[in-house]
Amino acid sequence: MLNHIFDSHAHYDDEAFTQDRHEIIKQMHKQGVCRLINVGANIVRSKESIALAAQYPFIYASVGIHPCDVKDAPCDYIQQLELLVKQPKVVAVGEIGLDYHYEDNAPREVQMTFFEAQLQLAKQYKLPVIIHDREAHGDTLDLLKKHKPTGVVHCFSGSVEMANEIIKLGMYIGLGGAVTFKNARTPIAVATAIPVEYMVLETDAPYMTPVPFRGKRCNSAMIIHTAEHIANARSEQGNHINTQELLDITRNNATKLFKVPLEDSYDNNVRVR
Ligand code: NI
Repeated sequence: MLNHIFDSHAHYDDEAFTQDRHEIIKQMHKQGVCRLINVGANIVRSKESIALAAQYPFIYASVGIHPCDVKDAPCDYIQQLELLVKQPKVVAVGEIGLDYHYEDNAPREVQMTFFEAQLQLAKQYKLPVIIHDREAHGDTLDLLKKHKPTGVVHCFSGSVEMANEIIKLGMYIGLGGAVTFKNARTPIAVATAIPVEYMVLETDAPYMTPVPFRGKRCNSAMIIHTAEHIANARSEQGNHINTQELLDITRNNATKLFKVPLEDSYDNNVRVR
């Protein structure tokens, strides 16, 4: 059985899991998911991420205001986040960033203000960031170059050239179900071009379900299919790697990035860092 699955980005607080959240979490842990970062999108969901991390030794939390949630954020969001980053098992600030896809999102300047304030918060608390960049590659890269955080650009959708720019900054590239989509050539091109030392795997569960489960709700155990797809594509190009090796390397990368222990710590009150 394949194991050592580290899902660097999932949302088990999502309402898609209301009916069976705890069964799914327990089941995928048995299926080899050894670590996952539950990523917050606003204040309430960040608190829910912390609650999940408190309940399950293998889950860690990230807190932040997603660019699509900027328009509904409270004025004192930085003060509120500042309380949350100090909670046990909070290992990152995110997801934060820019989303120029939806017209009803906050204006670009407002999104950038929130993004920069949260990049500064992360720096202040020496935490990595989890970046959301949708159709905002230029501004995202500019702000990452300006603030030089540690972290990952999640669900990476830019070009190979942009991926290399991100890696030059010392940041990681987060790859998920999109690498398995037949109509999306860029994600798999990135997945085969970048050094594996800078790759982490993710699901974005309940979204971005990989082939062959398209149309179903995503969960972290499905990362195996993403990993298999990347390993096969790299092997075809002569960079031989098998699925388990890729799972091991990306787990080690994520462990280093988020400074989480390889083994479960059953004392949830101890802040791991
Ligand atoms: Ni997400």
